[in-house]
Amino acid sequence: MASSTASPHAWNRRNQSGHLGRLLRERKAIVGVVGLGYVGLPLAHAFVAAGLRVIGFDTDAAKVADLAVGRSYLDHLAGAIFADLAAADGFEATSDMGRLGEPDVVLVAVPTPLGRHHEPDLRYVTGVAHDVARVLRPGQLIVLESTTYPGTTRDAVAPILAAAFCDGERLLIGRDVFVAYSPEREDPGRAIDSVSIPKLVGGLDELSAQLAVDAYSLAFDKVIAVSSAEVAESAKLLENIFRAVNIALVNEMKVVLADLGVDVWEVIDAASTKPFGFMPFYPGPGLGGHCIPIDPFYMTWKAKEVGRPVEFIELAGLVNHRMPAYVVERVAEGLNEDGKAVKGSRVLVVGLAYKANVGDVRESPSLELIELLRKRGAEVDYHDPHVPRTHPMRRFDLRLESVPLDRANLVTYDAVLIATAHDAVDFAEIAEHASLVVDTRNAMAAHADRMAGRLVKA
Ligand SMILES: NC(=O)c1ccc[n+]([C@@H]2O[C@H](COP(=O)([O-])OP(=O)(O)OC[C@H]3O[C@@H](n4cnc5c(N)ncnc54)[C@H](O)[C@@H]3O)[C@@H](O)[C@H]2O)c1
Repeated sequence: MASSTASPHAWNRRNQSGHLGRLLRERKAIVGVVGLGYVGLPLAHAFVAAGLRVIGFDTDAAKVADLAVGRSYLDHLAGAIFADLAAADGFEATSDMGRLGEPDVVLVAVPTPLGRHHEPDLRYVTGVAHDVARVLRPGQLIVLESTTYPGTTRDAVAPILAAAFCDGERLLIGRDVFVAYSPEREDPGRAIDSVSIPKLVGGLDELSAQLAVDAYSLAFDKVIAVSSAEVAESAKLLENIFRAVNIALVNEMKVVLADLGVDVWEVIDAASTKPFGFMPFYPGPGLGGHCIPIDPFYMTWKAKEVGRPVEFIELAGLVNHRMPAYVVERVAEGLNEDGKAVKGSRVLVVGLAYKANVGDVRESPSLELIELLRKRGAEVDYHDPHVPRTHPMRRFDLRLESVPLDRANLVTYDAVLIATAHDAVDFAEIAEHASLVVDTRNAMAAHADRMAGRLVKA
């Protein structure tokens, strides 16, 4: 433990990797998961399902209380995860960070948001590192899972851990304690068992890497070791930047093709028939969620720090950022065709969540669409089966409740703006009763034939 006085039971500094390796082989290692959110909770569940004892840590005491009784606090996660964890003998959750010395393996999945000037905000990550350092003991493996820029694990986390003492002796990373990075590849809303998604692992040194591979192999089907934590950190950013850039590309194509009278959705389907060298990405009303709009800035920030500004990534951000304004312009054009102004029109936004079939509204473009429409004088409501009401957020406090999607209600709107294509939305009902539909997701494709003059793609 972090103390400056020597203990009579001095630990064996040569044997720590062997000891942890043995605990892992015998499946006796205790796993700690710090941050029980969208990433941490399925992770904890995966290790519990693999038969390991898991302690979940979260500073939010309400979540700890919910977990104790199996009450779900994350909309899209299968309710079974909460029920399983509440019923499992091998799982407990706590807000007591003083217990971080108990697990042999500590997996950290806390938020990595952006600061006011789009700079990385590592306060949660370094906060946890300090919590761990206070109770760090020999033989512990610490793995960062939060998405971040290359170098975070080595330059921001490791120095905090390396300052820890145990029984008066400084703990050495790679000999006494072990540190690695492993990115999460959750895809909210997609019905896929996360343990079947290959898991990348990069250590700060060889022993750390090996122990991290051994630990994840207990719960995940396929674990891939890369040569360093930096490679694993960069791979995660590349995956997300790849999406951001390709979405920007189709969004830009969409705007040009609309002017040319060509349907971008049909173009993407056509291009997708090429069996190599192309993969489809789809346009939308703008980027949303906690990853794609945020993670690229972790890379651009790091790039600036090393004096290599990355224009391509920034440009993608710019194009995507313009989408809500473009969509609102298309709503205005559609209303104009009907002889109406935006000011005073009633607009129903369908889908508040940032992607289909989840209730997550973080960074959702729908919020900005509502704000922009309101600024132009429209009266705006929303319908979202996954978001019954809005809650105050950092930037928005809409104070709205989801309205029903039925004939009586639909006929009262001048325009219906489809921002998210949830499976649970009855698009046939919209096609039947809406006087104007502005569709950013091609959700009305099956009904387009009977919507002549009432459908605008945006
Ligand atoms: N959600 C995803 O689909 C996804 C996918 C890949 C990567 N990520 C990354 O994973 C990380 C976590 O994201 P998330 O979506 O799970 O976030 P989240 O907000 O759902 O969960 C984070 C949890 O951490 C807790 N927390 C905050 N500070 C803490 C502290 N000091 N100690 C203990 N707990 C603390 C919060 O209370 C919260 O429950 C982020 O870096 C994110 O970019 C998320």
